[in-house]
Amino acid sequence: MKVIGIETSCDDTGVSIFDDKKGILSNVVSSQVKLHEEWGGVYPDLAAREHTKNIIPVLDKALKDAHVSLEDIDAIAFTAAPGLIVSLVIGISAAKALSWSLDKPLVPVHHIEAHIFAIFLTQKVDYPFLALVVSGGHTELYIVRDFQDYQYLGGTLDDAVGEAYDKVARMLDLGYPGGPVIDKLAKEGKEIMKLPRPLIKEKDRHKYNFSFSGLKSAVLREVEKCVYKPEDIAASFQSAAVDVLVSKTVNAALEYGIKNIVVAGGVSANTALREKLSEEAKKKGLNVYFPPLYLCTDNAAMVAYTGYKRFVEKGITVGYDFEGKARIRMDKFVKYLKDYLNRKNLK
Ligand code: KG4
Ligand code: ZN
Repeated sequence: MKVIGIETSCDDTGVSIFDDKKGILSNVVSSQVKLHEEWGGVYPDLAAREHTKNIIPVLDKALKDAHVSLEDIDAIAFTAAPGLIVSLVIGISAAKALSWSLDKPLVPVHHIEAHIFAIFLTQKVDYPFLALVVSGGHTELYIVRDFQDYQYLGGTLDDAVGEAYDKVARMLDLGYPGGPVIDKLAKEGKEIMKLPRPLIKEKDRHKYNFSFSGLKSAVLREVEKCVYKPEDIAASFQSAAVDVLVSKTVNAALEYGIKNIVVAGGVSANTALREKLSEEAKKKGLNVYFPPLYLCTDNAAMVAYTGYKRFVEKGITVGYDFEGKARIRMDKFVKYLKDYLNRKNLK
């Protein structure tokens, strides 16, 4: 069976083909990073225009790389939520058009779910596992008991951790996206200032919530002093951000008695997070799984694979009336999907 995956939730246009016998046959991503650089973040109108321009060439390349033709495709998976709505609708429309013209089933995927389940493309992880989702738009902790069985533990109250990396990079004039640059620069610096670790000691309501905007403002105050070197600021910021992520994740795993931790999303590429979480988890007898770097940031392989799982394990397909959503949590998306299917069955 071959499933095509389409991803356009933010600024990357991705198409991939997954084969249940051979794995990922192709994984094409057209990045818009250069275009958004001058804005220091993703500029929605520009992203939408670029997706429209790139979607067919990317699809064409994905088919060519995989040495398959459209007739060989058995199902079409697409990112239905969450993301920039103007970007999402381009991929959703392309998926619907393909499904209609090929008369093949249409399978919706939640972007965060795809980031998490990408781990199975390269590693075996036993359920239940704790998922730490860290990207440009999300910082969340979930217990994943099974596919489609998710318990939300907490998330960011303001900025996502990737967003904080991007904003700190902008303060230091380092370009976009900021994560990889800060990661690299931090290695040359020292943690010479103790920045706040927001909510790290929180025991009640915000035990598993995050907040990065205070940390970002603290960095700005240090930058404005013009006293410290950028590499030391980068190292100090990274140390604070990573401390919070590691501490909450390890605490949640211990509290809920979960042995396995999966880290997903763009920030899972971060070297300090990889090192520190692996080290702390080892001390507590926990296992940590990180995706390979090419599956950390946005891609369509994760969408093709998660769509395949939904189609084969759950037998789920949707009609052309299925709507994408800009904002919806992963656990709520499962309910949204089930409600949609119930309504359909009642008709
Ligand atoms: O998952 P992703 O590609 O897109 C979203 O769904 O948001 O994540 C992008 C984010 C950006 O904020 C980027 O700065 C961050 O991931 N990122 C990193 C690293 N590589 C990418 N953050 C920290 N360290 C990295 N090495
Ligand atoms: Zn993402």
